[in-house]
Amino acid sequence: MPSTQATKVEATLNALFKDSRLDKIKMMKGAAKSMFRPIQPIDFEHVYLSISSEQGEDLTRLIVQNDIKQVVEFGTSFGISTLYLAQGVSETGGSIITTELIASKANKAIENFKKAGVNDLIEVRIGDAMETLKGHQDPIDLLLLDGWKDLYMPLFNMLEPNFHNDTYIYVDNANMSDSQVFLNSIAKSGKYAIQFMFGGSVALVTYKLK
Ligand SMILES: C[S@@+](CC[C@H](N)C(=O)[O-])C[C@H]1O[C@@H](n2cnc3c(N)ncnc32)[C@H](O)[C@@H]1O
Repeated sequence: MPSTQATKVEATLNALFKDSRLDKIKMMKGAAKSMFRPIQPIDFEHVYLSISSEQGEDLTRLIVQNDIKQVVEFGTSFGISTLYLAQGVSETGGSIITTELIASKANKAIENFKKAGVNDLIEVRIGDAMETLKGHQDPIDLLLLDGWKDLYMPLFNMLEPNFHNDTYIYVDNANMSDSQVFLNSIAKSGKYAIQFMFGGSVALVTYKLK
């Protein structure tokens, strides 16, 4: 990545991480809205819920070291994780499709990608990932699962035909109960190897037979 672009990405990430420090307060407000019904993504319209900088750097490294080009992300939020993915694909000549249910979050993410000077590497699809990624035609080298956890399984099943022997599936919040159900189910298939990282909060899924 040219140094001027790298500086812009870094500055954008710093500003976003700074802003995300208010997440805990905003999350409590969101959770309070859902006292009498199940929590919904819209309750967290103003909350980042982002990956950590260490996870982001790990994702960038994974992309560069494995020459990953075609990245699909479920759960854009305000674009923190996508900026790390962009740092990776800018080195490999790849691109990213990322999808976000809440339009106001997706539009903010697009602004952030423009600020960081990486918007030409990223296609943002606004809407439910089960619709925006339906009929996806291209191979997927890396799938980042970081949206609502009950969709990990159906989304994985929908996109599995696009995987190949060297596909990586990076599962955030791997220790949450819906994620565990998903991971147990794919482990049972016998086709996938699962490596836990970051104290079990991330799972990296690969094909067993390469
Ligand atoms: C944990 S946050 C993503 C954080 C982001 N990956 C980051 O690290 O900066 C999860 C996001 O998934 C979005 N989401 C939830 N259900 C979705 C769906 N069905 N389709 C697309 N996005 C969805 C939520 O609105 C939320 O912004």
